[in-house]
Amino acid sequence: MPGDIHARLAALPAFPALTGARVRLREPRSDDADAVFALFADPAVMRYWGSAPMRSRMQAEGKLEEMREAFARREALDWIVADRRSGAALGTCTLFRFDARHRRAEVGYALHASRWGQGLATEAVALALDWSLRTLGLHRVEADIDPRNEASRRLLLRLGFRSEGLLRQRFFIGEDATDSELFGLLAQEWRGRDR
Ligand SMILES: CC(C)(COP(=O)(O)OP(=O)(O)OC[C@H]1O[C@@H](n2cnc3c(N)ncnc32)[C@H](O)[C@@H]1OP(=O)(O)O)[C@@H](O)C(=O)NCCC(=O)NCCS
Repeated sequence: MPGDIHARLAALPAFPALTGARVRLREPRSDDADAVFALFADPAVMRYWGSAPMRSRMQAEGKLEEMREAFARREALDWIVADRRSGAALGTCTLFRFDARHRRAEVGYALHASRWGQGLATEAVALALDWSLRTLGLHRVEADIDPRNEASRRLLLRLGFRSEGLLRQRFFIGEDATDSELFGLLAQEWRGRDR
């Protein structure tokens, strides 16, 4: 049945590894803790993220454990984005909130600031979208961003997402009530886009 996303997730024999020209999406490993800590401890990376920067390496170890457990329960696919050549962990790319009834999921991503502006996150998210739209039979992928997050908004627009509306003061980041902009991409738009 085309809508049976949970069955397709359950049938995955292992964490899917996806390879692009410059990045590789792979399963999280415990030796990624230093890189994951460097990523999520950086206030620049966390500026529009829903949580405070990490303060200890243990938090990164805990996050890696959660990433692995989420896949074991088939609740999320939380990839490590690695440099294809060196293997260095550069960031994360996540598909989560799978909704089998409505054949949709949400996408999120973060990249180490030293590698911003090189198109690497766009490549990583494109790999995750292409794989998930084909393999899981998703109909729609959503992303929810702070509208001030220009890099994230441009990434989504570049990949064919459309801005579908602004939800006012939906999240507190610290003491600030921040707006949330919802983006959506339909499977037929992905298949039909110019490459
Ligand atoms: C969002 C993020 C992953 C983008 O990573 P990236 O590898 O720099 O993105 P890309 O190089 O693929 O660029 C995507 C687009 O953003 C633009 N961009 C990159 N950095 C930018 C910046 N600091 N300000 C404005 N635009 C920027 C690029 O020019 C590109 O636009 P284009 O396609 O129109 O040329 C990265 O900025 C990041 O990790 N931010 C912190 C975490 C975060 O906010 N994640 C999103 C939460 S919803």
